[in-house]
Amino acid sequence: MNKGLYIHFPFCRKKCNYCDFYSLADGSRKGEYIDALCREIKAYKGISVDTVYFGGGTPSLMSGSELEKLLDAVYTSFDVDKNAEITLEANPMSVNEGEKLKAFKSAGINRLSLGVQSFSDTELKELGRGHTAQDAVDTVKRAQEAGFDNISIDLMFALPRQTLDSFTKGLDTALSLGVQHISTYALSIEDKTVFGVKQRRGENLFLPDEDVEAEMYFSACERLSQAGFEHYEISNFAKDGFRSRHNMKYWQAEEYIGIGASAHSYFEGVRYSMPSDISAFCNEARRLDSYTNTPEDRAEEFIFLSLRLSDGLNLQRLEKEYGVRITHQFEITARELVDAGLCKYDNGVLSLTHKGFFVSNSVIVKIFEAL
Ligand SMILES: C[S@@+](CC[C@H](N)C(=O)[O-])C[C@H]1O[C@@H](n2cnc3c(N)ncnc32)[C@H](O)[C@@H]1O
Ligand code: SF4
Repeated sequence: MNKGLYIHFPFCRKKCNYCDFYSLADGSRKGEYIDALCREIKAYKGISVDTVYFGGGTPSLMSGSELEKLLDAVYTSFDVDKNAEITLEANPMSVNEGEKLKAFKSAGINRLSLGVQSFSDTELKELGRGHTAQDAVDTVKRAQEAGFDNISIDLMFALPRQTLDSFTKGLDTALSLGVQHISTYALSIEDKTVFGVKQRRGENLFLPDEDVEAEMYFSACERLSQAGFEHYEISNFAKDGFRSRHNMKYWQAEEYIGIGASAHSYFEGVRYSMPSDISAFCNEARRLDSYTNTPEDRAEEFIFLSLRLSDGLNLQRLEKEYGVRITHQFEITARELVDAGLCKYDNGVLSLTHKGFFVSNSVIVKIFEAL
């Protein structure tokens, strides 16, 4: 089966106040790192892939020719399907000229995932983003002019000083742009970020309370569904035919190869991770942590990942492929979750409703306990 290929680009122009993805604001080692990526890519031979994903960090900080060099290496080493989905994560700050977008397009990128986060300048400032709402709107339009017809935007909610009204206005702006895919993430406060430090010091971050956060999530579900987007994963919405094929591989526990500092792979049944350290990666002194999934791990992953998707958990597959017997207790719990409006249970498939998605962790724990 075709695998996915993930390539991590760990540089950003500046670090956002909420983000703990592995990325550095100092890009002085960018060239050296890209050379190391090419070396590593060339170590693979003939593996078939049908999705390639440049994530970060901010891969759109690369020039067209740097990206071309990486894609050349990918095409030389991997057997890339002719209809492969090739995504690049982009930040409006780094693609403020149309020429760069055209260069990405002609290098072979056919899907853009744009980090917009918010269409309110006040909120963007709180987040420490280096662009305005108008920059994001202009970037989407330039990308469309450059020929991109598969664009995703990331929006965040439950942000400092955000109101339900500003979030829904942001959703409407997103919809007016005619993009094919929207991801909406609730802000999570991570320890080693500016927000994490402020919270530890007891500073007020002016976060909306949980009821407002819930209203934001449900308004996204409702507005986007009405606009013809399929809510196919907890945080992801797509027009027909525009699910993220690469991310679907993660959620369907399919195999993928991750290259670069902090990248993860799932290859021939083994999970690997590379250290979050560009020096280790550039010096080829890579230490690969690996873990072979036990049958129990695989069953747990199947349950956990399936329930993130609107496609839900197929109980026949769970029994047949993973040897998990459906107990009487499970049937009772499933019915209770349906009665509480948290799940749907039809034709042997259990899936979460919008309400269930919002409290997915506790719902999934209940399902695990019942199995
Ligand atoms: C690795 S970033 C890539 C996008 C690109 N670097 C940018 O920011 O424009 C992927 C997405 O994760 C989301 N994200 C990052 N940190 C988050 C956090 N602490 N809470 C919720 N979402 C977060 C943001 O929406 C971000 O666009
Ligand atoms: S959100 Fe994106 S631009 Fe901001 S620090 Fe994280 S990876 Fe970099």
